[in-house]
Amino acid sequence: MTRPILIAIAWPYANAPIHVGNITGSHLPGDIVARYHRLRGNQVLMVSGTDSHGTPVSLRADAEGKTVEEVYKHFHEDFISLFQRLGIQYDLFTTTHTQNHFQVAQTIFLALQQNGCLYTETRPQWYSPSNKRFLPDRYVEGTCYLCGYTGARSDQCDKCGNVLEPEKLINPRSKIDGSTPELRETEHYYLDLSKLEPEVAEFLRQRKSYWRETVTGQSLGQIESEGLKPRAITRDLDWGVPVPLPGWEGKCLYVWFEAVIGYLSASIEWATLSGQPNAWRTWWTNPEAHSFYFIGKDNIFFHAAFWPAQLMGVGTQFMQLYAQEATPLTLPYNVPANMFMNLEGQKISGSRNWAVWGHDFLDRYDPDALRYYLTINMPEMHDSDWDWGEFVSRNNDELVAIWGNLANRVISFCYKNWDGCIPEPGELTELDRELLQKVEAGFESVAAELEAVHLRAALSEAMRLATEVNRYLDITAPWKQIKTDRQAAGRAIYVALRAIDSLKILLAPFLPFSSEKLHRLLGYNTNLFGQPTTRIVSDTLGEHTVLQYDPQSATGNWAASQLPAGQKLLEPQPLFRKLEPQIISEERARLGQPS
Ligand code: MF3
Ligand code: ZN
Repeated sequence: MTRPILIAIAWPYANAPIHVGNITGSHLPGDIVARYHRLRGNQVLMVSGTDSHGTPVSLRADAEGKTVEEVYKHFHEDFISLFQRLGIQYDLFTTTHTQNHFQVAQTIFLALQQNGCLYTETRPQWYSPSNKRFLPDRYVEGTCYLCGYTGARSDQCDKCGNVLEPEKLINPRSKIDGSTPELRETEHYYLDLSKLEPEVAEFLRQRKSYWRETVTGQSLGQIESEGLKPRAITRDLDWGVPVPLPGWEGKCLYVWFEAVIGYLSASIEWATLSGQPNAWRTWWTNPEAHSFYFIGKDNIFFHAAFWPAQLMGVGTQFMQLYAQEATPLTLPYNVPANMFMNLEGQKISGSRNWAVWGHDFLDRYDPDALRYYLTINMPEMHDSDWDWGEFVSRNNDELVAIWGNLANRVISFCYKNWDGCIPEPGELTELDRELLQKVEAGFESVAAELEAVHLRAALSEAMRLATEVNRYLDITAPWKQIKTDRQAAGRAIYVALRAIDSLKILLAPFLPFSSEKLHRLLGYNTNLFGQPTTRIVSDTLGEHTVLQYDPQSATGNWAASQLPAGQKLLEPQPLFRKLEPQIISEERARLGQPS
């Protein structure tokens, strides 16, 4: 049975380039699971986009003296080219700055209002007389009223870690020009989370048995200790999605409120662009669909509590307004949030260049080397650490020594001694059959780990099977045997090639570039996966580039090899590069300062 699988990946803010922590946090795990389900023949939709609104983006624009459009577009293009280089195959990677997203987000807002989940309240907020505007929380800094730290943001203190009530900040100053802001009254919409709390708690309890403990611990833990409090979902801003009500001009939807709606709006945009405008319903109005949200630990509340609350609050009303059909929307099936990856023992800090940037890395190394290290070291349950020494040793001792050399050695030997063709095996021995059974059992064991989103374990399991093939070759030693028994050597080579052909699929979700290459080297002239394409879409807000996945040419299948004897190999080429140990010090020297 095929199942619709939605892969929803956190939308990166358009204020900084993507580093290895972001890649291993959300984009890569999402891509691995998506590729696995595509190979399985499930209906996959993987969406995300650039989080183009919000104060992180406008702060960056102010700091650079650019318009917000310029800043968001710059990073948006940068993200898209990185995903192409890294093989992150989004069905659609779009942006929140589209007419479609505005309309969907505004409809969710109206549905919540009609269902009585919203109320308005007037409260004091920091206003800058010199800029003649209200200042977002992040724009105001001052002294923490809890610990006395003088560099606190009005909504959060990085020293004591507390969330602050902005209007209580001592000695406030504007981040824009250092001037002193004053408190003024302003009216906002609030999402009544306290009303939705019992439903959200029940939703989390139902999923507790199979969710990561870190995720339920944070979300359900918070609800059980403090409860869910109402949250303001509008802001005094002009860059964002306008509140769709008369008299609310100059106010926008809170960036988190509208960004999570992006999963839904991007699915709708994907359907429109594919020429099947209703196709998004496969993932959104079908209770059988499974949706996975790949995010970092700082996003847990918004995906495990806030977004489910929005979906529960709209009930059937979104579909009623949007499609005149009273149907509920599918709630998250799993939110496998990752913890953080540090760098050389210190917290990654983009602004201090204590980071390994995606593009910069790929200027010198290969994408599968990165995908391997980021998967085997993924911060699934605990923070992990990028260490350049470990990167080199895992690349050389595992990726190259266990897997790359195995494939290369067997293909080269076969190519040289059997005229470039896969030998006829004759009847297999007990040992041969045992090896093939072990490797083929990987289609169950690796799959089980992937389904449970244990990606480190899944990759380790596939690598363990590669080790089994190496052991088999140690025993059968076809390189020696060929001198005395050519037929037996040919049989061992056939068996090894067939095991490698299966391993190519088991490893494909993790290492797609080398698996595609190996597929060709083994003599197939098809592709395992489809192709990424970009296109420019225009709407009333202007133009935006999207990254799309074209599944047309994909032929990969999660099934054991049926390698045909006689098939002609391509001229052998290594799959991976061994790295020189001196790059460790070179790379460390490139780093800036830890915070
Ligand atoms: N832009 C946010 C961040 O980088 C993540 C937003 S995820 C979304 O932390 F779902 F809200 F879009
Ligand atoms: Zn403090």
